[in-house]
Amino acid sequence: MSPKERIEQLTRELNEHNYNYYVLNAPVISDYDFDMLLKELQELEEKYPEYASPNSPTKRVGGDITKKFETVKHRFPMLSLSNSYSKEEIEEFAERVKKLVDGEVEYVCELKYDGVAISITYQNGEFVRAVTRGDGVQGEDVTANVKTIRTVPLKLRGDYLPDFDVRGEIIFPLDAFNRLNEEREEAGEPLFSNPRNTASGTIKMQDSSVVASRGLDCFLYQLYADKIPFEGHFEALQAIAKWGFKVPKAEDNYIKKVHSIEGIMDFIDYWDKHRENLPFEIDGIVIKVNNFHKQEELGFTAKSPRWAIAYKFKAERVSTLLHKITYQVGRTGAITPVANLEPVQLAGTIVKRASLHNADQIEKLDIRERDTVFVEKGGEIIPKIVGVDLSKRPKDSKPTHFIEYCPVCGTKLIRDEGEAQHYCPNSNGCKPQIVGRIEHFIGRKMMNIDGLGVETVNQLYDAGLVKNVADLYDLTLEDLLPLERMAEKSAQNLLQGLEESKKVPFERVLFALGIRHVGETVAKKLAKHFKNIDNLASADVETLVQVDEIGEVIAKSVVDFFNDEENRIIIERLKKAGLQFSINEEDHQQKSTVLEGKTVVISGVFNKSRNELKKLIEEHGGKNGSSISGKTDFLLRGDKMGPSKLAKAEKLDIPMISEDEFLEMIGEK
Ligand code: IVH
Repeated sequence: MSPKERIEQLTRELNEHNYNYYVLNAPVISDYDFDMLLKELQELEEKYPEYASPNSPTKRVGGDITKKFETVKHRFPMLSLSNSYSKEEIEEFAERVKKLVDGEVEYVCELKYDGVAISITYQNGEFVRAVTRGDGVQGEDVTANVKTIRTVPLKLRGDYLPDFDVRGEIIFPLDAFNRLNEEREEAGEPLFSNPRNTASGTIKMQDSSVVASRGLDCFLYQLYADKIPFEGHFEALQAIAKWGFKVPKAEDNYIKKVHSIEGIMDFIDYWDKHRENLPFEIDGIVIKVNNFHKQEELGFTAKSPRWAIAYKFKAERVSTLLHKITYQVGRTGAITPVANLEPVQLAGTIVKRASLHNADQIEKLDIRERDTVFVEKGGEIIPKIVGVDLSKRPKDSKPTHFIEYCPVCGTKLIRDEGEAQHYCPNSNGCKPQIVGRIEHFIGRKMMNIDGLGVETVNQLYDAGLVKNVADLYDLTLEDLLPLERMAEKSAQNLLQGLEESKKVPFERVLFALGIRHVGETVAKKLAKHFKNIDNLASADVETLVQVDEIGEVIAKSVVDFFNDEENRIIIERLKKAGLQFSINEEDHQQKSTVLEGKTVVISGVFNKSRNELKKLIEEHGGKNGSSISGKTDFLLRGDKMGPSKLAKAEKLDIPMISEDEFLEMIGEK
């Protein structure tokens, strides 16, 4: 077979597997086999770039950089929907429709996805271009980024139209969003405030490989073409599903054809109640007249179609008094303004505090102390302030001036150009930064030091016993016993915990050091590549960026860390104390290939520790999955597994095995 033919064959096969996996949720080959095919294609394309297609499945992993997004005119203007907030308005809409068209009217009810609108052009079955809404007439070409979204087909199948646009919403699924924020927290980076804005920021990033890593998704909700050969909107969506698009499914009740106003109200009521359980955010329901002829008869107003309307949920929003804005100092020195609120009930919890993120956010909303503010809670974890009730603002109120000096140590704050966050630069003399770093160091995923908690760290700091992580390993029983509430037994536990932590492998020690931008995954990558701390410490930015997935920002942060004299002294002391500063080759040795290409998810309580199990999975060639999905090959099921996880595994038909069965399987029983 010629290279050209092989490239075409691989492309066909990989497209098919992508579709089975992402759209149908029913993969037919293992992740490993998939990766091998993809790798072969990547290598062939590199060798024979003349045969590489712009819609190759290799585009999914990103890598194309867009320096400037070109402006493109929409073939069909991107209109918006008229909004309504009450059922009366929906009734009025239905009345209007009835007057303007003859006969029975069928409606389609859909979710109103809260993301970023996108328009994608396909010609002759090929993805041509993806453009943002912009001003509705023209938008920005974000093709390279949208190609990384796995549920968007690059090549169509079946009996597609030769030339059409499809519109949809790019969303940030809550799982992926919360995971991204967890990683950012662990890496000492400021958190993103909500999935929609983050989706919108992500789709305009220059580096498409970053976009690929974030896990965006896309729901398609409308077909546009000169001539549409289907009777109605519902039928059109069913048809494009056959062309390879992921469309909302009737069986999930994400879309429903109804024949009466009662049918519409039932759909609204259902989702008003159940939207909390959706894996992504919606902000309402969209109601569309189904029949295309009737749509034509109804036509458009200047801004929106007369055949559709959005019903917006009243966001769970309350108003409350903002007593005071205080400022928190994180372990990296980042300053986060916090609104201290009069406690108020919201979506099932009592909210007392809300993050104000940064100075820009305060300025944008002009938030002041003693203001009455509106607080909302979406699917994400942190409640947010969305506005101010100006009618209740006290007469003598003054604009908020962001602090200029660290509220704890008094050092003048800095703010780098282009950065939203203020920082306290006094990293080795500012208590919350020091204590924060020690807390990070002892964390479960890092050094996992038994017997040492947040309170004790504060006590040790206040007593002048511990000023950095190296001091921990100099602690003695005599140091500890005089501390308040420190019994001999707990002191011994603590020392024992420190002793045990000397066995923690290098990649976790590296993560524990708390280098900015070095989270769990990056630490693993660096450890694997550089093998020991000395190699890493002497690497310059150029060397670091050669490592897979290490960009300039991370590289600079690593270099800065090791350039700091104080950090080097701490590492020397930790080395002397006996911590692991090189990878244990044995640890990374492959014991078997029994689990080659398999993704295993662990859930529940086991005899062995979860870390031991994870290590075993890797040693036998498997991959540890973070959550149950179509990608999971099997579930290692312990006691007390959560019911929702169980239900998900059952729904996806994922085989489950016990700890014993697992150990037997890998021959470690
Ligand atoms: S239909 C002309 N359907 O809501 C009608 N829009 O103002 C085109 N949206 O930014 C829109 N979910 O991106 C339609 N199921 C859905 C939708 C939806 C979300 C967004 C759309 C637009 C806004 C409408």
